[in-house]
Amino acid sequence: MARNIVLIGFMGVGKGALARELVRCDSTLYALDTDDMIESMTNTRIKKIFATAGEAAFRALEQKTADWLAKNVTNAVISTGGGFYKVDNLKAIGTVVYLKADFDWILGRILNAPNAKKKLKKRPLFQDVEKARSLFAERYHRYEEVADVVIDVDRGDTRSVAEEVLRMAAQQ
Ligand code: S3P
Repeated sequence: MARNIVLIGFMGVGKGALARELVRCDSTLYALDTDDMIESMTNTRIKKIFATAGEAAFRALEQKTADWLAKNVTNAVISTGGGFYKVDNLKAIGTVVYLKADFDWILGRILNAPNAKKKLKKRPLFQDVEKARSLFAERYHRYEEVADVVIDVDRGDTRSVAEEVLRMAAQQ
């Protein structure tokens, strides 16, 4: 199987930040982000894809990205959009690591970020906090079910979480 680490979890949990920390810890890894890949492939912001083509079209782009990653990529840490766990070949891409935290911790992380407004604005499924809370309630079991490794991210700083991810991924 491809030697990749695939970070899954809810919007705002810190998948991108952790991917960058993992690369700082292990310089043989390269960081990729599925939302960034989709935006560069389509030259369109995620928010606009949702508004013009709709969510189903975005999910199809996620599947295309998953297929390409599974075939072509190794030695990467891949941060994913919060709904990417639904692709049908997730485990073929690499070791799936679920970044686990409760909804209020995630909300606090987003609201306390210096660019909180921007972080919220670019996420079409986080425009209404109560709707996002319900989406979290729908999804959090599924994240655990599809993951090879579950990491509680609300217990330590980014460096210690990254070290734990590397330790756990090495055992897979
Ligand atoms: C989504 C999460 C977003 C992005 C899109 C849909 C989701 O990524 O892929 O807005 O379904 O949870 P982040 O998890 O990086 O916010």
